Amino acid sequence: MSKKGLEELSEQGQSSRRRFLFWLSSALLAGSGLISAVSNLVFMRPRATYGQPSRFAIGRPAEFPVGTRISMNVEKVCVVREEAGLAAISIKCTHLGCTVGVSETGFACPCHGSRFDQDGNVIGGPAPQALPWYKLTLAPNGDLEVDKSVTIEQGTYFGV
Ligand code: FES
Repeated sequence: MSKKGLEELSEQGQSSRRRFLFWLSSALLAGSGLISAVSNLVFMRPRATYGQPSRFAIGRPAEFPVGTRISMNVEKVCVVREEAGLAAISIKCTHLGCTVGVSETGFACPCHGSRFDQDGNVIGGPAPQALPWYKLTLAPNGDLEVDKSVTIEQGTYFGV
């Protein structure tokens, strides 16, 4: 083969190598752009939940026999069962928000000594108002649900 033929063959080889590198770098650039776009979309998607849901199930009515007073510290509610029915009373102190505990006389706050009677009325300490009562409903599956976004009048029991 002549020298000119060898040079043409070499140029063709370089040209196809350049084309290959061009396509390879383009594919890598497009791939990294796609990964970047997807990760940005995943990042922008809100995943935060802000606290407890205001409505939640607490179980079947039969799980609360008459005389029950069960504090649910995570949900900050006390489920009370009397002859008249069921009630869900807040256990978040109306003074500065500590979790009140069930006591012999009703509820007692460990932070600054507020005391509440069985219905949540203030009977001592710095708490400015009574503990609110929340709406109770029966879900279609038979579970009791507390709705903390709806307060009801004190003494309004949910009949079961
Ligand atoms: S937070 Fe309950 S008395 Fe202050």
